[in-house]
Amino acid sequence: MDNRKEYFESFADDWDKNFTAEDLEFLSFLIDTFNLKEGDRVVDLGCGTGVLFDIVRRRVGDSGMIVGVDFSSRMAHKALQNFPFRNCFAIDADVQQLPLQSDYFHLAVSFASFAHFAHPDRVISEVARVLKPGAPFHIIHLLGSRELARHHHHAGGPVAHDVLPSAEKMNEMFRSAGFNGIDIVDQHGLYHASGLKK
Ligand SMILES: C[S@@+](CC[C@H](N)C(=O)[O-])C[C@H]1O[C@@H](n2cnc3c(N)ncnc32)[C@H](O)[C@@H]1O
Repeated sequence: MDNRKEYFESFADDWDKNFTAEDLEFLSFLIDTFNLKEGDRVVDLGCGTGVLFDIVRRRVGDSGMIVGVDFSSRMAHKALQNFPFRNCFAIDADVQQLPLQSDYFHLAVSFASFAHFAHPDRVISEVARVLKPGAPFHIIHLLGSRELARHHHHAGGPVAHDVLPSAEKMNEMFRSAGFNGIDIVDQHGLYHASGLKK
């Protein structure tokens, strides 16, 4: 049993307060660089209360969709409450075993969540399965890897030791799951790893 699940359940009601207007503007800017198109299907791993939903749904339109996955049912439920649109879905499930069809999504994103996944290699393999060939997976944190490790250490509890894999390990996980075009930016205020499914 992953005790992070209960930990995140306990934060669901107030989670939305974590984001400043500046964060949302930066996320919006970053997601613009993904070149989403009308009709695109996006999967959001560890979606929380759906902070990316509105940004993505406006870009993919009614013919596209965003599907958030989170193992905290309260987070997933809140995401649906926050964004009751017909192109927004939230599923209460573990990202290490996605209840989603293969070769279906045009883009996968994991925002502020990847460092919390107990088995990141399994997540990357599952993402490879559900993405269409040529589709990207973006892993984003609004802190560099060292800052993030310090942040989690201060938070304590079940996330105290949650860190991002080294660049070498991240490259290896992407490659062995069948991604190429791997790129890792790790700097003050931003961690962004991405790859394209072959
Ligand atoms: C720090 S929060 C970020 C949530 C959201 N992306 C945001 O930025 O507001 C991390 C999220 O990942 C979820 N999570 C952690 N491990 C998970 C797993 N194995 N499967 C599904 N969700 C997971 C937690 O429940 C939590 O909602």
